[in-house]
Amino acid sequence: MPQNRQILLDSRPQGEASASNFKLVTADTPALQDGQVLVRHHYLSLDPYMRGRMNDSKSYAASQPLGEVMIGGTVGEVVESRSPKFAVGDQVVGMGGWQEYSVVDAAQPGALRKVDTTHVPLSHYLGAVGMPGVTAWYGLVKIIAPKAGETVVVSAATGAVGSAYGALAKARGCRVVGIAGGPDKCRYAREELGFDACVDHREHGDLKSMSRALKEACPHGIDGHFENVGGYILDAVLLRANAFARVAVCGMIAGYDGQPLPLQNPALILINRIKIEGFIVSEHMEVWPEALKELGTLVATGKLRPRETIAQGIEAAPEAFLGLLKGRNFGKQLVKLV
Ligand SMILES: NC(=O)c1ccc[n+]([C@@H]2O[C@H](COP(=O)([O-])OP(=O)(O)OC[C@H]3O[C@@H](n4cnc5c(N)ncnc54)[C@H](OP(=O)(O)O)[C@@H]3O)[C@@H](O)[C@H]2O)c1
Repeated sequence: MPQNRQILLDSRPQGEASASNFKLVTADTPALQDGQVLVRHHYLSLDPYMRGRMNDSKSYAASQPLGEVMIGGTVGEVVESRSPKFAVGDQVVGMGGWQEYSVVDAAQPGALRKVDTTHVPLSHYLGAVGMPGVTAWYGLVKIIAPKAGETVVVSAATGAVGSAYGALAKARGCRVVGIAGGPDKCRYAREELGFDACVDHREHGDLKSMSRALKEACPHGIDGHFENVGGYILDAVLLRANAFARVAVCGMIAGYDGQPLPLQNPALILINRIKIEGFIVSEHMEVWPEALKELGTLVATGKLRPRETIAQGIEAAPEAFLGLLKGRNFGKQLVKLV
């Protein structure tokens, strides 16, 4: 059986997460029992939610235990099977964690899913045609529920979730406005992702400047907003929101290291009768088949061409993850393991 390099959570961050919170170890892969398969991971997904799991505080999900392999989505190939459900060579998506191989109990519902790479590259099953894509779909379709012609906004617009949101909203006839960090990301949002406008939060780094820029980008106000960041960006959106606007609260990455994110003017929620709804995509498994079908078609037909930032080798995962929390990724952050 092959050797397996793994990254464990070694300590909990105090404030900002750092590379010293993680530990690289090498373990033997155990011999398979009946019903199990051995998966060799090709890509590991790095996602902002992992920062929350590093804390030991009350949340919607249990904390990552210390001394165990970090949680994470993976795609790969079955290299050994003692299950009738999977054959050697099957390409699969699962939650293999920050390691090169995983042993999976194939009978466990949802533990491993076969994927078809004829029209969709394997890595996209961790991004646009995976959890982040479904996240964009849920917030847009089920919470914002836009009508054609409405203006919808998204922060972290060029990331895994934001880029899928752009394509889904364009397909529904919306004016789509992104908020992203830096001129390159904003140009990419407009020229490659098809956003109608994109506001650079590095250029507009305070409430007044951001709200002026949003006024220009959204001349008819904002009908729907998908929040990934929080802080003054959300305040600026609320200032420009139309009556009966809908806000899907997906993430608050500006506060994941413990920064407070006060809301400057909550009275706007009342004045404009705004609906604000938070959600966790894994609590809505019923929409995944429909969402994945639409997202798969958008990718297969070239209407969504997601960008990826790929770190090489499991040892690169901690730094790549810390970079994701600082906006150093450009598109979906992955680690290539093969
Ligand atoms: N609710 C759910 O079920 C669910 C599921 C998946 C993801 N999410 C959330 O969705 C959001 C996007 O996730 P993703 O996987 O697509 O990540 P991503 O957008 O690919 O990467 C994170 C991006 O956040 C932006 N960012 C980081 N710190 C920031 C700050 N202080 N201020 C402004 N922007 C900052 C950066 O983009 P810029 O350089 O453009 O600022 C960075 O590239 C996250 O908040 C995540 O937690 C929620």
